[in-house]
Amino acid sequence: MRLHHDKHHRTYVDQLNRAIAPFPSLNDRTIEDLLMHLSDVPESIQTTVRTCGGGHANHELFWKSIGPPTGTLPRGALAEGINETFGNLQTLQQRLTEAALGVFGSGWAFLALDLGTGEMEVMSLPNQDVDMLHGKSALLACDVWEHSYYLKYENRRTEYLQAFWEVIQWEAVSVRLERSMQKSRIAAS
Ligand SMILES: [Fe+2]
Repeated sequence: MRLHHDKHHRTYVDQLNRAIAPFPSLNDRTIEDLLMHLSDVPESIQTTVRTCGGGHANHELFWKSIGPPTGTLPRGALAEGINETFGNLQTLQQRLTEAALGVFGSGWAFLALDLGTGEMEVMSLPNQDVDMLHGKSALLACDVWEHSYYLKYENRRTEYLQAFWEVIQWEAVSVRLERSMQKSRIAAS
């Protein structure tokens, strides 16, 4: 995890910062703003902003999704949403694990809120593609690039995914659900 954070994630941040350095007007923009308005970014750096900016946004969400085991389970609106959408937590875990196993090559699996319908769903995206470009707001992110598990689990993605469920910070997921529901309501009004 230290290597993943300090080397892999950092490389995305460094490359993004290098790309936008010649354009001071971009310095004050949030990563979400840059990614949502890629056409405002000079064409010469659009690919770097999309891939490295996406890599930064996804990893930021990933680190905030996990932490030392808390022994807690989803509660409140998050638990209700999971039960309404998936039936129970176990089914959500099964679906997200299947989505993560189904990513061919590098990519991500997410629990997300569709900002149009306000419904929760499991989704996967390739490479460093980001949820917000698909009208979704990710609540929980699972990195399935090989760099996230190869050092410890070699090619055993399934074992990495089993361990992933032990370290989810459900309170943080709840906070993101609240914010995403607000975004969804604003989008609908
Ligand atoms: Fe990663």
